[in-house]
Amino acid sequence: MEVEPEQTFIMIKPDGVQRGLVAEIIARFERKGFTLRGLKLQNVQQSFAEKHYEDLSSKPFFRGLVQYIVSGPVVAMVWEGKGVVSTGRTIIGATNPAQSAPGTIRGDYAIDIGRNVIHGSDSVESAKKEIHLWFPEGIVQWTSSLHSWIN
Ligand code: PPS
Repeated sequence: MEVEPEQTFIMIKPDGVQRGLVAEIIARFERKGFTLRGLKLQNVQQSFAEKHYEDLSSKPFFRGLVQYIVSGPVVAMVWEGKGVVSTGRTIIGATNPAQSAPGTIRGDYAIDIGRNVIHGSDSVESAKKEIHLWFPEGIVQWTSSLHSWIN
């Protein structure tokens, strides 16, 4: 039986987009060896942001978090590869940039937990849920032709 490849949902938040970090973030995932499966720039409606973060609705920072996400366009992506959920979180760094290690995205580019540049699914299960929410149209199926482009 064929095993389904692991996928994760990654969102570059409005501060990441407006600070010009999109290419840098994509490069980090590509260079690690992950494959881009879905990508779009979009504005987020308040109700959609509330749905995405519904598990956090009782948290004191919930309203501020939703306001932050709807404040400008975000880049929504699906990345694929072995262990991409967990390794993606390592590439991103700790939630609070004050604790994120240098070399991680948040460690290198953020100082405030309320402006932490990027979101990544925290488990394979939430990745499936988030991909379904953000890409209801499905994602492009493609096979790399890398060797035939080069040779
Ligand atoms: S918690 O409280 O442990 O469930 O939260 P955590 O897993 O650390 O973070 C979940 C998301 O909430 C965001 N967050 C915050 N935003 C604004 N202000 C504060 N104080 C704050 N604390 C947590 C955090 O960035 C996570 O967002 P995503 O987009 O999932 O990274």
